[in-house]
Amino acid sequence: MSRRKIIAGNWKMNKTPSEAVALVNELKPLVANDDVDVVFCVPAIDIVPVVAAVKGSNIQVGAENMYFEESGAYTGEIAPAMLVDAGVKYVVLGHSERREYFGETNDDVNKKVRKALEHDLVPIMCCGESLKQREQGVTMDFVRQQVKVGLQGVTAEEAKKVVIAYEPIWAIGTGVTATTEQAQEVCAAIRVCIKEVYDGATADAIRIQYGGSVNAATAGELFAQVDIDGGLVGGASLKPEFGDIVNYK
Ligand code: 13P
Repeated sequence: MSRRKIIAGNWKMNKTPSEAVALVNELKPLVANDDVDVVFCVPAIDIVPVVAAVKGSNIQVGAENMYFEESGAYTGEIAPAMLVDAGVKYVVLGHSERREYFGETNDDVNKKVRKALEHDLVPIMCCGESLKQREQGVTMDFVRQQVKVGLQGVTAEEAKKVVIAYEPIWAIGTGVTATTEQAQEVCAAIRVCIKEVYDGATADAIRIQYGGSVNAATAGELFAQVDIDGGLVGGASLKPEFGDIVNYK
């Protein structure tokens, strides 16, 4: 089964609305590759101008977070229907920075994943271990728990649409990319976990990205691994280098 690669930028807390439009206009010609899915996950306030700026291109727009309620008294939060109405297709959920700085739990991530699917948004569900966990030899246990709890109550049909991003925390923003072997090993284990929870067809269909200091030099080898279906890119997604990552072949 051949899965279509998905290469997503996570802009994190960078770019004002006007800077965002300028960056899209700069990157648009560089990421014009119809062989892969290209997604720009941008700050909430940038969504509306970025959706307008990518019109007519191959770029799809994602959000970096979302709340799990429909609407109501949740000051400062963004509802799934707001994202959909604005033209968003993807939403990053459970990024390690949300877990670390904003206390998001696996249960929160699960509620968000289910709510996103209800609204036909594609969740990019993040998982990944800390350096301490890797050193303690509990990487697989930890990541398996994040994935299993994150997908609780999600049907096999829905799970096939989910994108899982494996991002070891020690590789994020550090310039230290996981080795190809380390990244492939965990992505393969995630696929086995999906097979155990669902079935072989679901495991074959689900797309698993690697993230953590992906750059133009490492993308080609990482994305060539059998269980790595693309990348979630932070720092390098804000630069022309993202074009080289999207055109990694
Ligand atoms: P960097 O590519 O900057 O390491 O960030 C990775 C990441 O967290 C993407 O979500």
